[in-house]
Amino acid sequence: MTERRLLIAGNWKMHGLHREGVALAAALAEKAASHQSAHGPLHLDLLICPPATLSREVSETLAESVISVGGQDCHTLERGAHTGDVSAAMLKDAGCSYVIVGHSERRADHGENNDQVKIKAAAAHACGLTAIICIGETREQRDRGEAMAIVGSQLAGSLPDEANASNTVIAYEPVWAIGTGLVATVADVAEIHAGVRAGLAKALSDADAVRVLYGGSVKPDNAAELMELEDVDGALVGGASLDADDFWAIAATCL
Ligand code: 13P
Repeated sequence: MTERRLLIAGNWKMHGLHREGVALAAALAEKAASHQSAHGPLHLDLLICPPATLSREVSETLAESVISVGGQDCHTLERGAHTGDVSAAMLKDAGCSYVIVGHSERRADHGENNDQVKIKAAAAHACGLTAIICIGETREQRDRGEAMAIVGSQLAGSLPDEANASNTVIAYEPVWAIGTGLVATVADVAEIHAGVRAGLAKALSDADAVRVLYGGSVKPDNAAELMELEDVDGALVGGASLDADDFWAIAATCL
């Protein structure tokens, strides 16, 4: 079995004014640095995805840190008359190396569909960003027994042709578990992640090396049991990533 390096990613969503965002990034950099000086190199990847207004500032704050910076969305195009949008090239220019695409909040708030998510992921790849493609079912879909089918079709529909293990990460985030304190059971997460892995195998030659994250109310007290699952390769953390101690505690379950 391919050894996959875990990725613990924080999605700050629409949180973080300048001062608090920089302070949070600096606090995490400090925790990572003191862990490294005590124990040597980290055996996982750390990422924070601040709002686009803070990408550059957070990147500069983390310039000496192992922690990477990502965007939360990008446009399908590199530039143009698209008021209010941010391109992958702009995120890259501001110091990002990852970008989240297809988050369920984008799918719900902005009506994004798999076709658009696929083009966004391709746009990210075209300028050298790693795309974190989000997929996940709603409560109603789960209750109807459609979770695996929905997740499978989102995966197949959102993966661009050039996707591979080095430019793509998948995040399974059941919509009903986001920001609710409800977490999918370990058995449900294991089942969906195994299904995602099987879906990846149909589409990619290096599917075994693709990281598949879990997201949805990941907290310090539930992270360990989720992160030890065979097909869970890290976490995409929302609320708990806004607190340096909590985010670090989640990462520490994997150190
Ligand atoms: P919460 O951790 O706040 O549930 O958010 C998860 C999420 O949507 C991360 O992208």
